Amino acid sequence: MKAMAQRTWDPAEVLELVELPTPEPGRGEVRVRVQAIGVNPVDWKMRTSGPLRLAARLIGPKPPVVVGVDFAGVVEAVGPGVTRAAQGDRVVGGTNFARGQRGSYADTVLVREDQLCRVPDAVDIAVAAALPVSGVTAWMAVVDLGRIRQVPPADRRVLVLGASGGVGQLAVQIAKLEGAFVAGVCSTKNVEMVKGLGVDLVLDYNQGDALEQAQPHAPFHVVVDCVGSYSGASCRALLSSRGRHIMVAGDEPSAAVQMLVPPFKSKTILGRPTGARLEPLVAAVAAGDLEVAIAQKLPLTSAEDAHRLSRTGRLTGKLILEP
Ligand SMILES: NC(=O)c1ccc[n+]([C@@H]2O[C@H](COP(=O)([O-])OP(=O)(O)OC[C@H]3O[C@@H](n4cnc5c(N)ncnc54)[C@H](OP(=O)(O)O)[C@@H]3O)[C@@H](O)[C@H]2O)c1
Repeated sequence: MKAMAQRTWDPAEVLELVELPTPEPGRGEVRVRVQAIGVNPVDWKMRTSGPLRLAARLIGPKPPVVVGVDFAGVVEAVGPGVTRAAQGDRVVGGTNFARGQRGSYADTVLVREDQLCRVPDAVDIAVAAALPVSGVTAWMAVVDLGRIRQVPPADRRVLVLGASGGVGQLAVQIAKLEGAFVAGVCSTKNVEMVKGLGVDLVLDYNQGDALEQAQPHAPFHVVVDCVGSYSGASCRALLSSRGRHIMVAGDEPSAAVQMLVPPFKSKTILGRPTGARLEPLVAAVAAGDLEVAIAQKLPLTSAEDAHRLSRTGRLTGKLILEP
C-alpha cells in the first residue's frame, strides 16, 4: 500500500509517498481501499503540537507517521467475526491512533468495523469523506453538548462563529434541521455562501465586532465557536440561562481554563468519528437535507499543498485528497 508519511515525528519533516506492507485484517477488522480523504486542521496541527500528537506518539504505530483521520472508499477485505461490513461495501469512517492505527493519508486503511458507516450509492464518495471529523464535531456541538433537543423549538437559537468553514457549515445546517433560528458569522466574501446554507441571519465580521452585532438577537441556546479567537466571556454573555458555549476551536490551555469559569457554560469538544455517529449525517446527506461544500480536490501526493491551504484558515468548505 502507498501512504503520504513523514519518516519521524520531527516537525521539520515533509510528507512523502512511501510504500508500506498492506495490512491483513485481524478479528473484527476491515481493510478499506480509500477513494477520498477529508483534510482537517488537526492533520497539520498534530505534526507540530497538540493532544492528538502526544497520544499518537505514545500509543500510535511506530513511524513512518501517516497523519489524517477522515476517509471514504470500498471494503477490500474483512477479518474473522466482522458482521457489519462486506467486501465491496461503500463506507466512510475515521482512523483512530488510540487503537494503534495509522492515519488516513493512504490508499488503504485498516480499522475496526464499529468505525465504519455504509455510504448509499446516492452519496458522492468525496462528500462522504468530508463528513467524519467536521460532521461529527458539528453534530456533537449542536445536538449532544449543545443539547438543542432539550429546549422547545421556540428557544432553539444557535449562533455559529466561523459558519463558512468545514465544521461551521455543517453546524449551521444541523441546527436548521433541528428547527433552530440560526445566526452565522463569516467574512464579507462568504456572506452569500452562508446565506445559501439556510441561516436566518448573517453577521459579517468585516462590518464590525460580530458578537456585538449578535447582541440584539440574543439569548442563544448554543454558541458554537469554530474560530477560537472570540472572547469566551463575550460568548457566554449571549447565552440563555441553560445555554452553552461550545469551543470547537481553541486548542490552547485557555480553552480548558474557560471551562472552569462559573457558571460552567463553556465546553470543549473532541469530535471523534465512529460508525454510529456518522449514521445520521450520512442519512441526512442521502436525503438531500445536508450539503457539503468542497473547496478543492487534490491528489494525495499534494498533501503538503493541502496543509499549506488549510493552515491559512481561510478555506470555504472542505479540502479532499484523492489517492
Ligand atoms: N474540537 C474538535 O474536535 C475539532 C474538530 C474539528 C475542527 N476543530 C478546530 O476547529 C477550527 C475550525 O475547523 P474547520 O475544519 O472548520 O476549519 P476551516 O475549514 O479551515 O474553516 C475556517 C473558517 O473560519 C473562518 N474564519 C476565520 N476567522 C474568522 C472569524 N474571525 N470569524 C468568523 N469566521 C472566521 C474562515 O472564513 P473567512 O476566510 O471568511 O474568515 C474559514 O471559513 C480549527 O481550529 C480546527 O482545528 C476542532
